[in-house]
Amino acid sequence: MKIQFYLFALGVAATLFVAENGVANPVAANKFCVSTRNFALNFEVGDDGRLYQRAVGTADGNEKLLRTHESYPQAGDGYVWEPALQVVHADGNTSTALFFESVTRTNDDAGRELTQIKLHDPAYPLEVTLNFRADRERDVVEEWTGIIHHESGAVTLERMASTALLLPPKNVYLTHFFGDWAKEMLTPITEQITPGTKVLDSKMGVRADQFQNPSFVLSLDGPPVENSGRVLAGSLEWSGSFQCAFDDNGENIHALCGVNPFASAYHLNPGETFTTPKMIWVWSANGLGEMSRKLHRWARDFGMRDGHKTRAVLLNNWEATGFEFDFSRIVGLYDPAKALGVELFLLDDGWFGNKYPRVNDHAGLGDWQPNRSRLPDGLAPLATEAVKRGLRFGIWMEPEMVNPKSELFEQHPDWVIRQPKRALELQRNQLVLDLTRPKVQAFEWQSIQNILGVPDISYAKWDCNRYLTQPGSSYLAPDRQSHLWIDYVNALYALMDKTAQAFPDTELMLCSGGGGRVDYGALKYFHEFWPSDNTDPTQRVPMQWDYSYFFPPMAIASHVTHWGNRPMHFACSVAMSARFGMDLDLNKLSAQDKAICAGAISAYKRIRDVTQLGDLYRLENPHEGFRGALDFVSPDRARTVVFVFQLKDGPQSPVHPQGLDPAKNYTIHELNPAPGRAAIPQEGKTFTGEVLMRDGIVPSCAHAVEASVIELGS
Ligand code: GLA
Repeated sequence: MKIQFYLFALGVAATLFVAENGVANPVAANKFCVSTRNFALNFEVGDDGRLYQRAVGTADGNEKLLRTHESYPQAGDGYVWEPALQVVHADGNTSTALFFESVTRTNDDAGRELTQIKLHDPAYPLEVTLNFRADRERDVVEEWTGIIHHESGAVTLERMASTALLLPPKNVYLTHFFGDWAKEMLTPITEQITPGTKVLDSKMGVRADQFQNPSFVLSLDGPPVENSGRVLAGSLEWSGSFQCAFDDNGENIHALCGVNPFASAYHLNPGETFTTPKMIWVWSANGLGEMSRKLHRWARDFGMRDGHKTRAVLLNNWEATGFEFDFSRIVGLYDPAKALGVELFLLDDGWFGNKYPRVNDHAGLGDWQPNRSRLPDGLAPLATEAVKRGLRFGIWMEPEMVNPKSELFEQHPDWVIRQPKRALELQRNQLVLDLTRPKVQAFEWQSIQNILGVPDISYAKWDCNRYLTQPGSSYLAPDRQSHLWIDYVNALYALMDKTAQAFPDTELMLCSGGGGRVDYGALKYFHEFWPSDNTDPTQRVPMQWDYSYFFPPMAIASHVTHWGNRPMHFACSVAMSARFGMDLDLNKLSAQDKAICAGAISAYKRIRDVTQLGDLYRLENPHEGFRGALDFVSPDRARTVVFVFQLKDGPQSPVHPQGLDPAKNYTIHELNPAPGRAAIPQEGKTFTGEVLMRDGIVPSCAHAVEASVIELGS
């Protein structure tokens, strides 16, 4: 194991432990770094005993260390900018001073080293551990903080960042993604960080996203571009209120990310450890494309479930039937689905509730018993019928929620999150159950087991259709109300973890009224996420492009629907570039549309090992030009699939694939060509990768809402 560290006798004794196979060996060092193949976080213990950091990407390690270089700055003892840690001690002292104690490194996994830097406050028994797990090959560092104390009573954490990464003072650009329901991630914004504090955050409690995803890009060589320049992606593993603050103090910039300190003071008892969510950093010196490919590889290995298994073709009934269905209407969808090549059927909302049937979104949430008039024999026969016809069966659930019009709410009105003395505020006619309450945890876990335990259910969509607006818990003590934001999310993760462990073969889709919960905190328990209720393919092209900066396309659910009334060929082509599904009444499709869907399904089955397990290259940015283009390259570089999505009329100019092996031969074949369009000029011809990357391929599309999917095979 190679470790880069520097020995400097700066008068402060420091210890670096180097470990093989989990055994730590101490080495004295006052300068050390957390490093991957191409990335390093350089730390230094100052003459004053505090821990400092050199700005990311800066070569000079000799410039004078100032307080503005502090690694995990603390409030109240001289640091006057945005702190990473703000503590009120048991005796009321509002200052904290952290001094370096030791650093250990554990080779906990091949190529994934864990570095732990211990800091302590000499005036108080308070210890902070900065943790870094460095993935050498993928240039990914996961970072988180642990806080423990042994004071005479609880200390209050007012701020507790996961990271306080140091960046150079000038020429740093931040790219972040604004949205809203049905526009998630659709508005990328790139801006230079300037003196002052730029904050990206969410105060919605049970979802991180809706307006702002907790993922962003920092670029050090001007606004980021696809194939050059130093870029650092950041993504916080947290599905609740978060804050990312970019604090430019004129000397340098701290990127402080973690749980949102807003209304979240956390009272930590002596001996308890507070562990922050993890922050993911991914480095590339060659632009956004390489950054994403590294992050996708990391995600397939560690950030999601079954990242090395291709995904089945799914048919959902939501857009087709809404709440209007019963046993025979659903079973009537199976045979046409199977005939088209569908592999998995997902039954959406509307299958439960008896006293208050779930026939619309006003009632029934929380009463997870199948509706007796719609499904007289429960869910099992629906699932069994599907399996008999060669389809897998999946089910929708929203375990965290309740309608006031439900038996659950009648029996347990105190189980919901609300503020006493305030008029109850509903969103989509529903309330959030208070997951900090053990009885609610037990109820949700029992409901999940009852649903997923039905024989032949092998897929579930876990929804969350509102966020917190009145954050009160009748379970938490009055002086612990501010714990709700954090304790909720941790209880949710415990539930998701139990679900993943108890149902290892059940695939899970993460949904939140569209894309409200797209983050790596939750995704690790799931196989995919629902990026948005907006399935208009013209909107999905830029939306999926933006998500792909951070998330592998195999995790991005993309369903063919009638949203936007786009041509079926275009809709299918867009969905095929991610995790393909359909949300259509197949019985109502024209013969031509059916044939297009069947062709898309069979093409998807042919290419899914490339699009899902291969590397993504973003070729033409749909936000900028008249079309969007991507290609995927198989791990052995023998096969490639090129997608071209025409958003406006434009010239039929060649698209230039990337990532091919220059020396390999590739034969060109357009998949599922649109009816009535001429074959592409290079159809059936063979060229070397070098020629294809240089000269490009002329796609069959030239007009708005046309697409071309081209396979390059060897
Ligand atoms: C949310 C989801 C939809 C659908 C409905 C059902 O809005 O995003 O896909 O499942 O709930 O109520």
